[in-house]
Amino acid sequence: VETGLADGFKLSPEKLQAAITDKTRLFIINSPSNPTGVAYTRAELKQLAEVLRQHPDIIIATDDMYEHILWTKEPFVNILNVAPDLYDRTVVMNGVSKAYSMTGWRIGYAGGPRELIKAMKKVQSQSTSNPTSISQVAALAALEGDQSCIEPMLKAFKERHDYVVARLNAMPEVSCLESSGTFYALPDISPILKKAGMDDVELCEKLLNESHVALIPGTAFGAPGYIRLSYATSMENLSNALDRIELFFSKIVQNQR
Ligand SMILES: Cc1ncc(COP(=O)(O)O)c(C=O)c1O
Repeated sequence: VETGLADGFKLSPEKLQAAITDKTRLFIINSPSNPTGVAYTRAELKQLAEVLRQHPDIIIATDDMYEHILWTKEPFVNILNVAPDLYDRTVVMNGVSKAYSMTGWRIGYAGGPRELIKAMKKVQSQSTSNPTSISQVAALAALEGDQSCIEPMLKAFKERHDYVVARLNAMPEVSCLESSGTFYALPDISPILKKAGMDDVELCEKLLNESHVALIPGTAFGAPGYIRLSYATSMENLSNALDRIELFFSKIVQNQR
């Protein structure tokens, strides 16, 4: 289901209801979200749960990967927290990649209905095999150990978020929403693309080859017209990258490209 800047990148209960057909098997929600950075509120999740309640055959998967990278006043909440009656058909997914910067350790985990998890294990063990025991013990240490490492990380991400969003919005023809968490910004640059006569994929390629800045085109997420910036890097790198993006865009806006 498509969303955009105008609806805050959020799925409404009406849109969800309209998208459900006899063939619908699975509803996946990711909040806080990659690539938008938005997080659903308790009230919004309740509304989505109300729609799903009317469709008992749909399995629900909540990808809580950015659970800890969230700066809203309201603490993290997922659809199961607000609608515990959906327990028997909900899979909760998470991992250690983001909150503990353990991307390379390749550990994710899921909790859900016994039969479903059993089937997932069968597919996974025969396709990707298993992560090393070393990674599993390291992930356990991250999850069960002292959690004080999260706070300074969160503070750094929020500072970078504020900086990146302000810089993007100061650029002509760029619109970027403030986000609730994660380390992504997804500005709408469609007016710039129109002027440049190129799509977001082409623009990202040019930015990479000419300005040496790596971004992900919105098209990769089904969102042409947008670009995704990750701010999981230093302020110095961000400042440098945003200078280059600004220069690149300004040449397009002034018709110098
Ligand atoms: C929403 C979301 N879920 C899951 C993952 C998977 O992370 P990994 O493969 O590092 O465990 C990512 C990584 O970008 C993500 O953004």
